[in-house]
Amino acid sequence: MCGIVGYTAKQAVEKRILDSLELLEYRGYDSAGLALFDTDTEQVEVRKCAGRVSDLRDLCGREAVHGLCGIGHTRWATHGGVSDENAHPHRVGCVTLVHNGIIENFEEIKDHYGLGQYLFSQTDTEVVAALINSFYNGHPRETIRRAVRCLKGTFALVIMFDDHPDVIYAVRNVSPIVAAYIPSGTMLASDVAALGGQADRYIVVPEYTIVELHKSAILLYDEADRRIEPEYYDIDWDTTRDGKGNYPFYMEKEIMEQPDTIRRTLAGRIKDGHISLEKDGVPDQLLADCQRICVVACGTAMHVGQLGSELVRKILHMHMDVEYASEFMYMDPVIDEKTLVLAISQSGETIDTLEALKYARRLGARSIGIINVRGSSIARESDYVMYTDAGPEIAVASTKAYTNQLAAFYALIGRMAVVRGIFDREQEREYAENLLQVPDKIQLVLNRRAEIHKIARSLLEAKDAFMIGRGMDYSILLEGALKLKEVSYIHTEAYASGELKHGTIALITQETPVIAAVTQDDLRDKELSNIREVQSRGASVTLLLREDIAADGIDCDYIFQLPQMPSLFMGFPASAALQLLAYYVSSDRGLDVDKPRNLAKVVTVE
Ligand code: F6R
Repeated sequence: MCGIVGYTAKQAVEKRILDSLELLEYRGYDSAGLALFDTDTEQVEVRKCAGRVSDLRDLCGREAVHGLCGIGHTRWATHGGVSDENAHPHRVGCVTLVHNGIIENFEEIKDHYGLGQYLFSQTDTEVVAALINSFYNGHPRETIRRAVRCLKGTFALVIMFDDHPDVIYAVRNVSPIVAAYIPSGTMLASDVAALGGQADRYIVVPEYTIVELHKSAILLYDEADRRIEPEYYDIDWDTTRDGKGNYPFYMEKEIMEQPDTIRRTLAGRIKDGHISLEKDGVPDQLLADCQRICVVACGTAMHVGQLGSELVRKILHMHMDVEYASEFMYMDPVIDEKTLVLAISQSGETIDTLEALKYARRLGARSIGIINVRGSSIARESDYVMYTDAGPEIAVASTKAYTNQLAAFYALIGRMAVVRGIFDREQEREYAENLLQVPDKIQLVLNRRAEIHKIARSLLEAKDAFMIGRGMDYSILLEGALKLKEVSYIHTEAYASGELKHGTIALITQETPVIAAVTQDDLRDKELSNIREVQSRGASVTLLLREDIAADGIDCDYIFQLPQMPSLFMGFPASAALQLLAYYVSSDRGLDVDKPRNLAKVVTVE
């Protein structure tokens, strides 16, 4: 989850490294650091500190370094707490390095090679620096290869040797590294975003290949030390960020962008009442032939599957497995060549999703990725990719990516219904029209954000909250609860309303506000009984109610009426309302909405 960057050039590199670290900060913001071969002192100088990249910038302002070659890092702590010492880069002897990933056997390596005396931090990374230093024989590639053979785990290592001051070395297993020529030199980084829009093509460094970054050349060497020609990928999407605009936080901006971005995601997939995946290259035969569908994803992306499974049952009359990617490999999943695996991911880099996808493919499954970040690892690993057009999502809490993933998922299931002969022409047209209505319906919710802000104020003092609903509403609330807890730190649980009385209702008191949802007319009366049950225990209740469902006889503290859509589509407007609720609670509590504690945007460790 850490962000890494390396840059060697004919001009000073420190500013570009700091700028790139800022672009990578969404990967981790516990601490930051850089190392440069300093042109004044003629040695490698390290500057690092706990805190944000802005703190590192201040430090570099106070203790200036100037160089033409350097590496940088933003950290998300795994081994060792958040401290200056544990920040990267780590320097042992003539070796300075940064690392993304986890070295599982670092204790064994430390003991086996007697490296304890060289270590000042609690990190696995410093052990690797000490190992490489102890093996160093003047030949960087040979030394790196020998060290890497000792490592168990995932890693992207970016290394400088004192006696090769103009060259940066890197090697990886699983954790990504991309490299590119930019006008002033060459760069490598954990992802394309860090290139700051300066390159129009990039290389994905293959696993266990050593990359050497020279000022005017990027050289790749395979495990037998043979030079290999890189494969280039075009950067034909916008990697730049246009800032927060007039919004105080990216999260609010991204919530507000949903109508436009969903329109873009649907464009080209829905036209003249037809649903088509031609632009994605997904063959109809694949959709017609598959006998099972399985979603692998994490967090919010997994909730797309959760809600989507209701759609699959109701439209395709099929069962769809939805699995936490992190559990997938350990559960002996039932997968074969007739299984269609859907890997859903905003970043396209979530390691659990990537590994689950690889595992499913090894078992013979065909796969489609629903991915936001072009050219990402999961996109490259999938047989077919449906890209969402959410644009860069910077806030750690996912909002527009979620609804865009849902939109792409709905298009996919719509197309499956057509090719499997479930939809006739009229049903296809009606489904497509409903989907095209989604952006406008979400806009109606966004227009009434002041009402949601008012509801949010009633939650500011809560320590715990519950969200209750039935059927699709329960799936919608799973995501709503995740959103609220991660940005507001209010412990929130989504519960299937009928299940509450089998234990959890013991927790309901006047201290536990409840948010209920009724968007499915057939579930209204049953849900109202559940609302009364929690009210009888003193809970205040906010109700999200589809506007055409009768409100008479409902006595709640707040009722927010959701714009009407057919039941199957209500996840879209309801989710927008829940996102705003979470956002306002967090911002009114004075929290760092875009960077909640302990979280990182891209989760590249298992
Ligand atoms: C929550 C959130 C996370 C991500 C999860 C998967 O708001 O953003 O739960 O959804 O880490 O990330 P991606 O979609 O990048 O695979």
